[in-house]
Amino acid sequence: MEEEILELKREKNALILAHNYQPIEIQAVADVVGDSLEMAVRAEDATADLIVVCGVQFMAETAKIINPERKVVIPVRDAGCPLAEQLTPAMIVEAKQRFPTAAVVVYVNSTAECKALADITCTSANAVRVVRSLEEDEVIFGPDANLAAYVQRQVPEKRIIPTPPGGHCYVHTGFTAVDVTGARARGGRIVCHPECPAAIQEASDVIASTGGMVRCAADADTWSVFTEKEMVTRLRVLYPEKTFYEKADAICADMKKIALADLLRSLREEEYEVTLPDEIMERARGAIERMLAVTG
Ligand code: 13P
Ligand code: SF4
Repeated sequence: MEEEILELKREKNALILAHNYQPIEIQAVADVVGDSLEMAVRAEDATADLIVVCGVQFMAETAKIINPERKVVIPVRDAGCPLAEQLTPAMIVEAKQRFPTAAVVVYVNSTAECKALADITCTSANAVRVVRSLEEDEVIFGPDANLAAYVQRQVPEKRIIPTPPGGHCYVHTGFTAVDVTGARARGGRIVCHPECPAAIQEASDVIASTGGMVRCAADADTWSVFTEKEMVTRLRVLYPEKTFYEKADAICADMKKIALADLLRSLREEEYEVTLPDEIMERARGAIERMLAVTG
């Protein structure tokens, strides 16, 4: 199947973008494996006739919004992100009524409709930079409240308004003090994703996006990695001489929906195509382009 995928990819001039949480066999045939920001950057520049996004829906939508001339497909229809569903356009409108002078920063883990209401989007890799770049002192920020609190600690001079107040990712809020105690007993460093609760962030040595985890892993020989467990499979491939520990049940079910057979069918049939209303795409594009400009 891998060979057929690679052949079809060449034949169709296709580009496969995969997230760090994708099954390792999908990562192995992808052209790019990265975090949400790296995927968006590569989608923006892509000249391929077909972009296949192996990840969840918001990642495929972001690729389409940022490069609307390309055909963008996702191999399964129902790979969503439960965090993204926790922010609605009505919540943003209501927050804007309460804080009319605040900027609206929407995490890319969100629907296209919410991005269309944002002044700027952010990812976990650039959220602090994005917020620091704003003139406004108040910032409506959603949907992840743990990422919002992380940004608040890094940028104390601004007021961050988490919207909704308790937006969270079930995979990352699953990390507890027991995981910290276990990791400290094993030794080595702890790296956590900023979607983890504040107490976990405080107990960790490094807080990073999944792309940041790839980079910081070079700095020590042993790591406990507090994020989705497939991240560790990727780190083991990149750094075979190092030791990484994952949490066995830190699994994003939606990230595991794409199998090699789905990817093959997706390339062959060019499905499922991402389509969005033009008006939503145009407004969301402004917010994503502004983020990419800040990221440089
Ligand atoms: P990254 O952008 O850090 O890869 O995070 C995406 C995500 O969905 C985390 O759960
Ligand atoms: Fe969404 Fe959490 Fe899965 Fe990331 S790990 S895609 S935030 S549900």
